[in-house]
Amino acid sequence: MFASLKSIGAYVPSKTLTNKELEKIVDTSDEWIRQRTGIQNRHIAEKDETTSDMAYKAAEVAIQRSGIKKEQIDAIICATITPDFFCMPSTACVVADKLGIKNSTAFDISAACSGFVYALSIAKAFIESGMKKNVLIIGAEKLSAIVDYTDRTTCVLFGDGAGAAVISADDDKKRSILDVHTSSDGAYQDFLITPGGGAKHPCSTDVIEKNMQFLKMKGNETFKLAVNTLTKDVREILKKNSLTSDDIDFFIPHQANFRIIDAVGKKLKFPHEKIVLTVAKYGNTSAASIPMAINDWYEKGKLKNGDLMLLDTFGGGLTWGSALVNFNQS
Ligand code: ACO
Repeated sequence: MFASLKSIGAYVPSKTLTNKELEKIVDTSDEWIRQRTGIQNRHIAEKDETTSDMAYKAAEVAIQRSGIKKEQIDAIICATITPDFFCMPSTACVVADKLGIKNSTAFDISAACSGFVYALSIAKAFIESGMKKNVLIIGAEKLSAIVDYTDRTTCVLFGDGAGAAVISADDDKKRSILDVHTSSDGAYQDFLITPGGGAKHPCSTDVIEKNMQFLKMKGNETFKLAVNTLTKDVREILKKNSLTSDDIDFFIPHQANFRIIDAVGKKLKFPHEKIVLTVAKYGNTSAASIPMAINDWYEKGKLKNGDLMLLDTFGGGLTWGSALVNFNQS
């Protein structure tokens, strides 16, 4: 039995935050942000809108498009670094309740921007081992909750949103997720970090006063590692599966920075029309970035059944991963 991506869905909050608006918040400029990142806009959740609210809305779309009934879902995996609650309950359990799904396996995973690809690998293993038949995977983030809007080096980069997919058992390899690769190197743990609020530095007045609850990033160092790692990862997964860039219909990289995507695309010789780009309008939405990009392409009518997608991601941990996925909407 093979694991197949049966549907995609996404949710984007309606409120926007443009570069021009950011100019009024921190010492930055529309020109700097566009030139250095390619970002023009990002969407920001309402104050009372949670990660699980966005995840639920994306999941509803994915389930409806999959043609399966909610009761048939036997596992829910939510990839997020901005869960509704610290420690517990998991966002996946909250989403299961909102969807009215009972008795399914439900848990969160934390792999930052690589979360969706990590979730895909778990769903594939669940299905191919025969343990599960229909797995709902979600990447959802309310990054605005952990972004420091006084820090110009990070606040211009991130946005909120959610994407979801239903992965189901299928007997045809041509319709399946061909391969998923995931990896990490914890030696670079301080490149992307929220230092406060965890067991190492539990929430305290000191943590709050030092802004340790917010995301910090060594942007320049991360940039260089990202380009090389993303490129190497793609070369390895293509070689392992005896494929070349020509066999790929769409390259769907993590949407962190246009310059990173452009550099990787050039090294891998992907023509522009094969590279899916949403970074300009959504910014970096971490674990939600790849499923939101797939959904964008699908809703634009560019993604057709049988298209072979190459996913490629990189994020905090550091974590990274890639996947070869046949699009197979029911
Ligand atoms: N507006 C204006 N100037 C700025 C801004 C800003 N928003 N931010 C930084 N600058 C300034 C810096 O202070 C610095 O000034 P200085 O030269 O006077 O010291 C100058 O711009 C250059 O700063 P760099 O950090 O070298 O800029 P760089 O070109 O590297 O761009 C960026 C920064 C956009 C963050 C880039 O490094 C990047 O995209 N990094 C990778 C991000 C990434 O891939 N993250 C992984 C996934 S995220 C996750 O897992 C949650």
